[in-house]
Amino acid sequence: MEKVRDRWSSRKVFLLASIGSAVGLGNVWRFSYVCYQNGGGAFLIPYFVALFTAGIPLMILEYAIGQMMNGAAPESFAKIRKKYEWIGWWALLIGFVVMTYYTVIMSWCFSYLIYSLKLSWGSSAQDFFFNNFLGLSSGHGDLGGIRWPIFLGLIFVWVSIFFCVIKGTKSVGKVVLITVPLPIICLVLLVIRGVTLPGAMEGLKFYLNPDFKVLLKPDVWLAAYSQIFFSLSLGFGVLIAYASYLPKKSDVVNNAFITGLADAGISFFAGFAVFSTLGYLACTTGVGVDKVVAAGPGLAFVTYPTIISLLPFGAAFFGVLFFIMLLTLGIDSAFSLVEAVVAGGMEKWGISRWKVNFIVCATAFFLGIIFTTRAGLYWLDVVDHFITTFGLVAVGLAECLIIGYVLGAERIRRYVNEHSDFSIGKWWNIIIKFITPSILAVLILKNLWNEIKIPYEKYPGWVLFAGGWGIVVLVVIGAYLLMKVKTKKINFG
Ligand code: PHE
Repeated sequence: MEKVRDRWSSRKVFLLASIGSAVGLGNVWRFSYVCYQNGGGAFLIPYFVALFTAGIPLMILEYAIGQMMNGAAPESFAKIRKKYEWIGWWALLIGFVVMTYYTVIMSWCFSYLIYSLKLSWGSSAQDFFFNNFLGLSSGHGDLGGIRWPIFLGLIFVWVSIFFCVIKGTKSVGKVVLITVPLPIICLVLLVIRGVTLPGAMEGLKFYLNPDFKVLLKPDVWLAAYSQIFFSLSLGFGVLIAYASYLPKKSDVVNNAFITGLADAGISFFAGFAVFSTLGYLACTTGVGVDKVVAAGPGLAFVTYPTIISLLPFGAAFFGVLFFIMLLTLGIDSAFSLVEAVVAGGMEKWGISRWKVNFIVCATAFFLGIIFTTRAGLYWLDVVDHFITTFGLVAVGLAECLIIGYVLGAERIRRYVNEHSDFSIGKWWNIIIKFITPSILAVLILKNLWNEIKIPYEKYPGWVLFAGGWGIVVLVVIGAYLLMKVKTKKINFG
């Protein structure tokens, strides 16, 4: 069957979609915390080193193979060697697992958007979040039933995602015109609000005060590499799929630099919104800034709501603004994951976009229901930890090895240089063949060692198996099986 492949309407739209995927919840709550914890301003050094020695080179790699092979991740790897197709599926399945819980966090944002109108969390945002909203049970084994507001929010999120990718590049291209600039506008307003609050400078001092001693610690460097990896959406097959919708003769290098720098810049800027307000919280409550710093969900659903209630005016407005920002930040990251899987499924089985899209969204929704139960947060925590520490980094390593040694880094470099705005030198080959894989291998071994030393959060063995190792292994087996399934192939013109 011969079919015309989807194409982006312009380079601008492709860039917006890629930036939309990269810039997500991770830029707001992960970056600022990781930065603060790893030496404040000094962390920017390993962070930018990681961006230039792994982030952007790998992004060039993913863009190049997508564009060159003209297919989603599985198809692209199959074109390198049939037996490597499973690596593409592996990336997509990891993305699939991530989407099951990423959307649940978006559902929380949706509920909080509504709560913001009345500042419903009252005097204790902490108590409200854990007890009233999540209604946390006693542990992983005690599911305690579904939390209906979260469940309903999840339906809303999935329906939105379904429609965002319904027409592929056509619908995505329209949606990102809004979902990329809108959160940035919200962020600018939040930064202005933040830095004009009393105590803001204290917070910013905390954020940026450089502690150069940390540069001697390997952990700080590894933290920088993992942050770059997650933040740039590398290793999920997203960038491969997006680049495959570009015309064959498109620029690669400049696009990678623009996406990478935009993502890093937004992370850095978001830190100002977060830390200036933390300074304000410390100042009004009289505790040190170091005591009010929170990571992950704690920051968005406990600390921020607390600060919002304390604002001198316009509390509801800034609350709504904050959660609209999170929702619009998250949605384009979420649907990029879906699009990557949909593209892979369509190519393999030759079924319509509509059908694959429906199957992917519905299955991910059903699997995500576990995160809407009273034990949801516990499960989310394990699954997220394992899939992001052992899944995507391993895919990145595999990509470097296959491109570096099987296909040949030099071949890709020449292909890229033929039509990029500016060329990359031989240094790129060295990075892809030696530097990035070594760093990623160390990262994996180090994490493995940590895990053996102290099991994650000291959770019981069956939990670590079911939500952690089991999923990590299942994803690899699943990828292999998907490669083996018989197909009705389509040839894209
Ligand atoms: N890059 C996103 C973030 O920073 C996370 C993500 C990764 C989303 C991969 C989609 C795909 O939040």
